[in-house]
Amino acid sequence: MQKLEVLGPNKLRGIIDVSGSKNASLPILAATLLSNKKVYLKNLPKVKDIETMINLLKSLGSKIQINKKKFIINNYYQNKKFASYNLVKTMRAGILVLGPLLAKFGIAKVSLPGGCAIGSRPVDIHLEALSKLGVKYEIKQGYVHAYAPRGLIGCKIKFSKISVGATENLIIASTFAKGTTILSNCAIEPEIEDLVNFLIKMGCNLSWIAKRKIKIIGVNQTRETNYSVMFDRIEAGTYLVAAATTEGKLKIRNVIPKVIKTEIDVLKKIGAQIKTKKNEINIIGKKNIKNINLKTSPYPGFPTDLQAQIMVLLCKANKKSIIKEDIFENRFMHVAELNRMGAKISIDGNKAIIEGNTKFAAAELMATDLRASVSLVLAALSTKGKSIINRIYHLDRGYENLEKKLKKVGAKIKRLN
Ligand code: EPZ
Repeated sequence: MQKLEVLGPNKLRGIIDVSGSKNASLPILAATLLSNKKVYLKNLPKVKDIETMINLLKSLGSKIQINKKKFIINNYYQNKKFASYNLVKTMRAGILVLGPLLAKFGIAKVSLPGGCAIGSRPVDIHLEALSKLGVKYEIKQGYVHAYAPRGLIGCKIKFSKISVGATENLIIASTFAKGTTILSNCAIEPEIEDLVNFLIKMGCNLSWIAKRKIKIIGVNQTRETNYSVMFDRIEAGTYLVAAATTEGKLKIRNVIPKVIKTEIDVLKKIGAQIKTKKNEINIIGKKNIKNINLKTSPYPGFPTDLQAQIMVLLCKANKKSIIKEDIFENRFMHVAELNRMGAKISIDGNKAIIEGNTKFAAAELMATDLRASVSLVLAALSTKGKSIINRIYHLDRGYENLEKKLKKVGAKIKRLN
């Protein structure tokens, strides 16, 4: 298994170009199943989860070519309705093909995603909402067997809990339902906005009618579509934290600063100096890092996908901080590893209490999930000595060219086989 060797400390200096969003690309790729016209997608990040989704679409019969980073997707002949466990088990977003397959064929057999390090990842909210559209389903041997005997019928649906994936699945399914669907208590992450913009470009009829409420009027055909996926706001946030953690000075490009206003405000409170322009963010990390208390919440709150990263920064703060993880039930896997580097973090339920004034010591570490892995890289970058991070396949799921981007701004980091 591959590992990363990081020699610290380094003050990161220079320019980082942010890639396309993994979490916008995945639902948009799933949504292409709706169309029997060609779809041209640009700015998809070269990460493992995208490769897995592409393989999943191909296993369903999609024809996909890549021409100079542009993906050409043709689902004219796509006719399979079975998404297998071996593709869905490593990438929980595989459940997002359920909505489009039901919308297109009225029948689908999709593997349940299964849990992962950060939680059990249930899909009850997806299924409860789909059944309101007229879907009948049963769960057998780890698969969802779903069908819509009278096709999908539009109606009013209020999600019982805010869920990014369930919102995406239902938005996609409703675009081909008969009549009008009103979805309320929706997640409103920027990636969902990107999915909606893509579907509108594809000829679907969607409009936001209130903050968390969207109206979808069913259509039955789409048009040839060209679309460029939004920037990865979690990648951007990760590199902002990297600058703050290493007292670095970075220019982060290909971003829309207002999309990550919450994260920028938090970093300013902690003491980083940040200036923004139209498509870039300039950050200077300071020696004096202030403590804060924060909790993760659905957008526009502080994102759970940046919780592990900001925890590393708060280990270096001058006083105690508390982070409350309100989205996932087990998203503190990085704490044990950070404590092995000398951090003093204790866990009380869904709260992590971070003592601060940590002098990290280099160590051999174990990555456990995508965002925890990158938090270990951030800690290692700001630590004197050589750290080794094992199981970096987690990292490769969601960060495009991580080592290359970090090396370009002065990090001493290399991949070992
Ligand atoms: C998406 O996951 C993201 N993944 C996650 O990013 C992100 O952490 C999460 O949203 C929250 O922002 C993608 O977009 C591919 P949820 P998703 O449904 O859709 C519970 C990363 O690092 N829930 O909003 O699975 C669930 O267990 C990944 O890029 C149910 O109980 O998140 C969780 O506690 C990690 N029943 C909470 O809701 C359901 O049917 C939020 O989950 C669905 C979810």
